[in-house]
Amino acid sequence: MAITPPASFTASPFTGKTFGVTVTGLTKKFGSATVLRDVNLEVKPGEIFCIMGPSGSGKSVLLKHIAGLEFATSGEVRIGEYDAADPETRAKVHLALVFQAGALFNSLSVYDNLALYPREHRLCNEAGIRERVMHALSILSLEKAAAKFPSELSGGMRKRVAIARALVMEPQLLLYDEPTSELDPVMSATISEIIATLREQTAVTSIVVTHDRDLALSICDRLAIIMDGRIKATGRPDEFRNPKDPAIANFLTPVIDLKNPRFKQLENAHE
Ligand SMILES: Nc1ncnc2c1ncn2[C@@H]1O[C@H](COP(=O)(O)OP(=O)(O)OP(=O)(O)O)[C@@H](O)[C@H]1O
Ligand SMILES: [Mg+2]
Repeated sequence: MAITPPASFTASPFTGKTFGVTVTGLTKKFGSATVLRDVNLEVKPGEIFCIMGPSGSGKSVLLKHIAGLEFATSGEVRIGEYDAADPETRAKVHLALVFQAGALFNSLSVYDNLALYPREHRLCNEAGIRERVMHALSILSLEKAAAKFPSELSGGMRKRVAIARALVMEPQLLLYDEPTSELDPVMSATISEIIATLREQTAVTSIVVTHDRDLALSICDRLAIIMDGRIKATGRPDEFRNPKDPAIANFLTPVIDLKNPRFKQLENAHE
């Protein structure tokens, strides 16, 4: 499927700049709970890097540290040479985060949600904004939803609007939190293609938190598996085809065992 990112991407004042991300000794505690434990990662400029792991393992918290929305208990995150925790960094790096739940403004239409950032940052005039917004919506097959409000959309549509909003921000660093959850298989494949095509055309560094094994193994350059707040393994997708570590193997290819004692308990409960 041919996908054409907005022409304005290549006209961005940030064109040509792309940033790597370095996470060094990152530990995060919420009260007495340790959620990230000495996390070390290096994402190279222009890479598509996937982060996979069980629910609750710390993926979203890690992504929020990169976005400067959470602050380390110890260790640090750098975007290129800049400290991710420094508020000034957001003025130097165009960073877009596609939130797990969309994080749209409920009082704004889909169109105005997308137009907000270019209006606030005076990226171009209203005609230019309209062109960008409609192009981004067309990439995500959302043209007809432009006038709708978030409450009128399905979960999958909200997710696509959140991705379209990230596109109009002309990012140099794109962070996606579960971009394909709640989407049907065809739309999931389209999102994977968009992530890959954007990187190809704009060299944007893309960090993708996902449970979607197909997405991770088909489009990423490298991936990391995080379990219980620790990085268990990092490598190229082909290095994860037949993982030897039983915990990783079971996570990537879970086996449904109908003889599991838990099913037995359920059966007994219904007798
Ligand atoms: N602001 C917070 N205060 C306290 N605990 C938090 C906070 N944010 C996250 N946590 C806890 O940190 C742990 C990791 O959460 P996180 O959202 O990173 O998981 P995840 O790997 O993204 O899971 P999922 O795949 O379900 O989205 C969870 O136990 C969660 O309850
Ligand atoms: Mg999460």
